[in-house]
Amino acid sequence: MRIKTLRSAIEWAKDKGVALGHFNISDISAFHAITKAAKELGVPIIIGTSEGEADYIDLDVAMAMVIDARKELDHPIFLNADHFRSLEKVREAVIAGYDSVIFDAAGQSIDENIEKTKEVVDLVKTIDKEIFVEGELGYIGESSKIFEEIPEGVEIVRDALPIPEDVARFVKETGVDLIAPAVGNLHGMFKDAPNPKLDIDLIKSIGVSAGVPMVLHGGSGISDEDFKSAIEAGMRIIHVNTEIRVAWREGIEDALEDKSKIAPYKVFPESEDKIYKIVLDRLKLFNGML
Ligand code: G3H
Ligand code: ZN
Repeated sequence: MRIKTLRSAIEWAKDKGVALGHFNISDISAFHAITKAAKELGVPIIIGTSEGEADYIDLDVAMAMVIDARKELDHPIFLNADHFRSLEKVREAVIAGYDSVIFDAAGQSIDENIEKTKEVVDLVKTIDKEIFVEGELGYIGESSKIFEEIPEGVEIVRDALPIPEDVARFVKETGVDLIAPAVGNLHGMFKDAPNPKLDIDLIKSIGVSAGVPMVLHGGSGISDEDFKSAIEAGMRIIHVNTEIRVAWREGIEDALEDKSKIAPYKVFPESEDKIYKIVLDRLKLFNGML
């Protein structure tokens, strides 16, 4: 594929009316699974590392993996610093060569969020104007995990969600390149129930006034129907993490049933395979192939 920058990948998604898949990694098995699925389908892909994931892998190692895979697969693969919460960490990611940074001050008031996000935009653009900065408006929780009830502090009723005017103000005053508004989505998923429905009308009206592409977080547990409507309403990137983590664990558990298996490179491929199936399925849906 000829797409060389995240900016052109997002343009490509907009032209086609699809969404780019963003999947988080903590290790090489997820990385292999995600890049393999993207290459097979011929769609650009974004790899994400949260602060915790990045600390474990190491920012430079994550970047080296992406640079190597771009070359080896001859494919557009981008790396995102996902939900970074300090200026220092943002700076480290930018210096490591990440393509984008998501600054997450969504748990704070809109004024504080604007002030801090603007500081991040100023810092990043001083280092490299081409690196994208994403801001978040509306609190959707912080953990990619399985839960029994909606996490504390997360509200998904319309009155608690950001209104289009707030989103437009946030984008204008911070200068972000991408915006992730809360639209009934949440981080993590329920064990045995689907996630609450997204507010598709709200996505549409935010899309009209936001002025920059929208990103949907908390993809795990969202129904196929909601995904399709959200993409139609203008979501251009969709994040999935919990489903990857669940698949990773199931793969390891299956592999370890064979007690004689002790070589990590014989255990991890079972996780890779499970993650690959999920990513392939999600990418087909996000890219209008289902
Ligand atoms: O930034 C990461 C995503 O928003 C992950 O959300 O764990 O609910 O799929 P998820
Ligand atoms: Zn997220």
